[in-house]
Amino acid sequence: MKNIEHIGIAVKDLEQSGGLYERLLGSPCYKTEEVPSEGVNTAFFKVGENKIELLAATHDESPIARFLEKRGEGIHHIAFKVADILSEMERLKSEGFVLLNEVPKQGADQKLVCFVHPKETGGVLIELCQDLLLY
Ligand code: CO
Repeated sequence: MKNIEHIGIAVKDLEQSGGLYERLLGSPCYKTEEVPSEGVNTAFFKVGENKIELLAATHDESPIARFLEKRGEGIHHIAFKVADILSEMERLKSEGFVLLNEVPKQGADQKLVCFVHPKETGGVLIELCQDLLLY
């Protein structure tokens, strides 16, 4: 794995929390994007070389809606950048980790992503992400 690509934070209201993070970081949101496959709306902020991803649910069955119900607002996942997501997925499986998706899927911000079950990672949901090559 390379660097931490972003930290994902679950929020109830994207607009309200977006305003909060603009004030907190002193920089504007540079991108918003809906990811229908995950049932989320996202807003991205830059902090130096790092990113913060705010996630709000778009419907009640969204994983973010279930997270908010159980745990409330707060840190939802940590995303690590990987050069080769397929080989990293194989490596993690061989180490006994459980992947939440068997094939990489398209995430926000032009990334291929895979999530690792928090049960085997001490309660932290991990996202692997690889830059999506655009042809
Ligand atoms: Co993420």
